[in-house]
Amino acid sequence: MKKDFITIHDLSHYEFHEIMDLTEKMKKKPGKYREVLKDKVLAMIFQKPSLRTRMTFEVGMLQLGGEAVYLAPSDIQMGSRESVRDIGKNLERWVDGIMIRTFGHNIILELAESTRLPVINALTDLLHPCQAMADFFTLREKKGSFAGLKLAYVGDGNNVCHSLMLAAAKAGLKMAVATPPGYEPKPEIVAWAKEDGQNTGFELTITNDPVEAVKDADAVYTDVWASMGQEAEKETRKKIFQPYQVNKELFSRAKPEAYFMHCLPAHRGEEVTDEVIDSPNSIVYDQAENRLHVQKVIMLLLMGKK
Ligand code: CP
Ligand code: NVA
Repeated sequence: MKKDFITIHDLSHYEFHEIMDLTEKMKKKPGKYREVLKDKVLAMIFQKPSLRTRMTFEVGMLQLGGEAVYLAPSDIQMGSRESVRDIGKNLERWVDGIMIRTFGHNIILELAESTRLPVINALTDLLHPCQAMADFFTLREKKGSFAGLKLAYVGDGNNVCHSLMLAAAKAGLKMAVATPPGYEPKPEIVAWAKEDGQNTGFELTITNDPVEAVKDADAVYTDVWASMGQEAEKETRKKIFQPYQVNKELFSRAKPEAYFMHCLPAHRGEEVTDEVIDSPNSIVYDQAENRLHVQKVIMLLLMGKK
């Protein structure tokens, strides 16, 4: 059966840790992996903008000996110029894998169903698994292990929050999520996380109180208040989310050595202030760098020789 990378919930605990371990190895000795995807081609479908995701998948393929082809939203006009299924059926005649960034999660599921190619989730409205894998790799790299760590997520219960919860469940972390009322993470994702975290030490708190969430946290994570596709809600959300801004005051309630984390792009002055994101505790560019290393491993596991 072919393998996709659509949600961290689909990974076994073994696979989750295997990705972490192999990323550490590959990051240390990149030269050893220079030809492992020789002559392989990845199609990258983007229905939303990107800096990090596009760069890291494209550079990652080059560093593994393969190539990537970028398909902009206006190129293939998924669903209007051509059906999702027909796109999947065409691509499998030319390339070895598909990466997709899209809106509805149903679109990636339909694409994966339509093709024998491995499909990688590069963000949907529901999930952003590559991001969370890179973030957890970064945490482990900084802290040495996941044991005993507490991660606080403050802001919107969105795609990034969902994938972080699923990673926390596999890693066995304590996680506290603080959102405004009505913006909590989706119950079906919370249920997946609880199922996955049953025997790992995972503990989840969901609250509307940001101070409670960041208390004793080893890392404080936030993301934009209005995600791509929610631009019309931007002004309303700005008012509702203001008490959830990660500023010096809120950040000082975490452990003194706590890390600040953000998937980027950041809206400085909204969800985070300059003094927090630019402080020595901020590891946002390490997270961005590690997107490259983690995704190289994911591509190798899906597209490399079996
Ligand atoms: N974090 C992230 O996915 O960044 P881009 O939207 O720039 O790809
Ligand atoms: N939640 C954000 C993440 C961007 C990387 C969005 O979906 O726009």
